[in-house]
Amino acid sequence: MKKNLILTGMMGVGKSTVGKSLSERLNMQFIDVDNLIESEENMSIRNIFEKKGEKYFRNVEKTLSLKSIKTQNAVISLGGGSFVDTSVREAINQTSLSFWLDLGIPNLAKRLANSKKRPLINGKNLEETLGHIYKKRENIYKLANFKIDCNKKDKSIILDEIINFYEAKCN
Ligand code: S3P
Repeated sequence: MKKNLILTGMMGVGKSTVGKSLSERLNMQFIDVDNLIESEENMSIRNIFEKKGEKYFRNVEKTLSLKSIKTQNAVISLGGGSFVDTSVREAINQTSLSFWLDLGIPNLAKRLANSKKRPLINGKNLEETLGHIYKKRENIYKLANFKIDCNKKDKSIILDEIINFYEAKCN
């Protein structure tokens, strides 16, 4: 049985677009946990944060991340906070290979400058807020099996790098 391929890392790093392309290249199912949360809750993530609060969101995120990880033969793009949960990381270690997509704060800020979808950064000083979240999470993202430095790399190079690591471990 093939291991799942999990993408983690900061918001704006490209987990969803990279994950979708990986699933097509590897002929695997694609699961985007943020999309799953929105469809299960029938509400945007922004509205979930606003109406039900972050704690509620984190619970749903944990439940749906754990459910997704149980799927077989899947590329799974987590939300930026999913990997922070210990039980999610443990489940990933048992069934999957994890990749931390890393990108410098100035690049993340450029990509997120017009994002209205992300409650953790909306209405705040972008670089400062991202830097703060990055600092808190860096040591957790480091626990992924592989770190992919996405600075100054085209998407195609990033895909090749991930596929090479994945196939070397899974074949
Ligand atoms: C979050 C990242 C978002 C989304 C939510 C919280 C985070 O997902 O789950 O806004 O805590 O980093 P993306 O990383 O897909 O933007």
